[in-house]
Amino acid sequence: MATASIRLRLLKPSDFSSEGAKALQTLFNASIMHGGTIGFLKPMSRREAQTYFDALKQGIENGHVIAVVAGSKPLDGFGLIRRDAEDRLGNHVWEVGRVMVRQEMQRHGLGAAIVKRLLAEAKRRKIEILWLDVRITNVAAIELFQKLGFRTWGIFPGRIKDRRTYVDVLYMANDLRHTYRPLRDLP
Ligand SMILES: CC(C)(COP(=O)(O)OP(=O)(O)OC[C@H]1O[C@@H](n2cnc3c(N)ncnc32)[C@H](O)[C@@H]1OP(=O)(O)O)[C@@H](O)C(=O)NCCC(=O)NCCS
Repeated sequence: MATASIRLRLLKPSDFSSEGAKALQTLFNASIMHGGTIGFLKPMSRREAQTYFDALKQGIENGHVIAVVAGSKPLDGFGLIRRDAEDRLGNHVWEVGRVMVRQEMQRHGLGAAIVKRLLAEAKRRKIEILWLDVRITNVAAIELFQKLGFRTWGIFPGRIKDRRTYVDVLYMANDLRHTYRPLRDLP
C-alpha cells in the first residue's frame, strides 16, 4: 500500500459552507453511482444532502463524529467514526462508517490511509473499540479493514434488503484496548 504524499485532514464545522457541502455531496453521490455501499440506496437529492450534511456538521460540533477527508477540488476520499450519544453503556464503542475513495483514486492506498487516520484519532481520544458493518459482497472493504486489524465477530444473514435482494452483513471490530487479550491467545 503506497501511502506516501497522501494529505488528510479532519473535517471542521466551518467546512460545511454551501460549496463545501456540495463537494461532499459530489463525492458521496459518485461513490453511490459507482456501486459504493455507503448506506444509501441512491444518490442524494439536494434536499436530502442538506439534511444529511447538517446532521453531520452537528455531530462534529457536538463531538459525536470525527470525519476525515482527502483532497479538495474535487474531494478524493472520506471516512468517519461516530458514537451513539443515547447509548450510555456503549460510549467506549464507536462505529466506522462511510469510508469511500473516488473511483479514479482507488487502489493507491488512500482508503487505508483514511482508516489509519481514523484509528489514530480513536486512540488519541481513548476510544476503546471500533466496529463496523459491511456487506459480505464488498471484498475490497473487507480486505482493507482486515489488513488494518478489524476482525469479524458475526454475520447477520439477510440484514440488508436492497430492492429485492437480501444481502448478508459482516460485523467487524477492532479492539484498541492494549490490555485486551482474546481468549484464543491464552496459553
Ligand atoms: C473500499 C475502498 C474505500 C478502498 O479504497 P482504496 O483507496 O481503493 O483502498 P487501498 O488502495 O487503500 O487498498 C488497501 C487494501 O484494501 C484491499 N483492496 C482495496 N481495493 C480492493 C479491491 N478492489 N479488491 C480486493 N482488495 C482490495 C487490498 O488489500 C488493498 O491493499 P493492496 O492494494 O496492497 O492490495 C474503495 O474501494 C471504495 O471507495 N469503495 C466504495 C465505497 C464502499 O463500498 N465503502 C465501504 C463501506 S463499508
